[in-house]
Amino acid sequence: MKVLGIFGSPRKGGNTEILLEEALKGAGKEGAKVERLYLSDVTISPCKECHGCDATGNCVILDDMQKIYPKLLDADVVILASPIFFYGVTAWAKALIDRTQPFWVRKYLLKDPSLGKGGRRRIGFFISVGATKGPKVFDGAVLTVKYFFDVLNAEYAGDLVFRGVEAKGDILKHPEALQQALEAGKRLVSDLKKSRRGE
Ligand SMILES: Cc1cc2nc3c(=O)[nH]c(=O)nc-3n(C[C@H](O)[C@H](O)[C@H](O)COP(=O)(O)O)c2cc1C
Repeated sequence: MKVLGIFGSPRKGGNTEILLEEALKGAGKEGAKVERLYLSDVTISPCKECHGCDATGNCVILDDMQKIYPKLLDADVVILASPIFFYGVTAWAKALIDRTQPFWVRKYLLKDPSLGKGGRRRIGFFISVGATKGPKVFDGAVLTVKYFFDVLNAEYAGDLVFRGVEAKGDILKHPEALQQALEAGKRLVSDLKKSRRGE
């Protein structure tokens, strides 16, 4: 079972990184093979809306995303962690998400069965934090991430979000948050294992 953890914050050692590390630790405890993708360490151009993928389902932009496409398809569980930037995910995360348009093309235009109902079942989970406490602070990001997981044929298995978390490491003041992230990572893997065994 492969778990891909996508770090969407440019701040190393920041709050979402700490949470995602805990979740990946939990997934590892359940025996999953864990891979980490730090978006601020790779070059992902924004989608140019050239429609170069419409006929083939492949992106024509030759950057690091070409190495990331197979990782996304290879994962059984994708965990995306992004803080809220202006009521959405970070630009780092949004660039990756927009560049999965070729998967949207495969799924909805080319009717690729591997991304259809009978295709491989994946699971997606979202981790986020925001500095403010407004009731709608995560709404925009959650909608974006749900649609991202849909093109990966990944069921939205839920999210873990924390308000009022601003300075680097603030999340450490909420030890229950780390415990919840650890448990979420374990649960994602164990639930998927059970469902594959038909339990
Ligand atoms: C450019 C930018 C935009 C932000 N926009 C929001 C926002 O709209 N709402 C909010 O609650 N927090 C906002 N924040 C605060 C971050 O979400 C917060 O500091 C978070 O803890 C950062 O997580 P990280 O340590 O994982 O990078 C913003 C921060 C930055 C740098």
